[in-house]
Amino acid sequence: MPSACNVVVLISGSGSNLQALIDSTRASEQPARICAVISNRADAYGLERAQAAGIATRVLDHKAFEGRDAFDAALIEAIDAFAPQLVVLAGFMRILTPGFVRHYAGRLLNIHPSLLPKYKGLHTHQRALEAGDREHGCSVHFVTEELDGGPLVVQAVIPVQTDDSAASLAQRVHEQEHLIYPLAVRWFAEGRLHLGEHGAMLDGQPLPSTGHLFRT
Ligand code: GAR
Repeated sequence: MPSACNVVVLISGSGSNLQALIDSTRASEQPARICAVISNRADAYGLERAQAAGIATRVLDHKAFEGRDAFDAALIEAIDAFAPQLVVLAGFMRILTPGFVRHYAGRLLNIHPSLLPKYKGLHTHQRALEAGDREHGCSVHFVTEELDGGPLVVQAVIPVQTDDSAASLAQRVHEQEHLIYPLAVRWFAEGRLHLGEHGAMLDGQPLPSTGHLFRT
């Protein structure tokens, strides 16, 4: 059994991905252990999910800081107090400074509700519909200094149906997020997933540029 991998999860909202991670770390014998959840919003529902699971929580309100650098410096301090091996962004809706990203290079994961590199930023489901895409999905990637960029680890692809709305697509994409994020965290915690010089590596082999692909 590998030694425990401490994980800090950053959230801003509902925390359904956090819940999926909590459930997966409880249910399986994987070495990931969520040691803290940090939110930039005091009203994030995910904080209640963490408390219900007996996980330490912290709130760091970005509005109380003068600028991104000051906020990110305080965030680093709050995170590092838990000495995590991995930091997981789960709906953390803040743009991170290059210094923050460099500090966690190779141990910072994000999930995004589109098939990256398509639709970085917001309103991804609406944008996929407006573009007439026949496929949509979600992506887990290592975080680099480029917003919603960075080497892909895993993507889940779903078909877009003719009667889909942004809401129906969001719901089906969310279901996939809850499968692929725990998987990526598990790979990392088991020591199978690394960020190599040329991209994400799984079991010593480079992953394809799309990351590992799941199709439904
Ligand atoms: C998720 O859909 C996640 O992919 C998205 O925020 C949502 C959070 O939901 N993240 C981004 O858009 C990051 N660019 P949750 O709070 O229920 O996990």
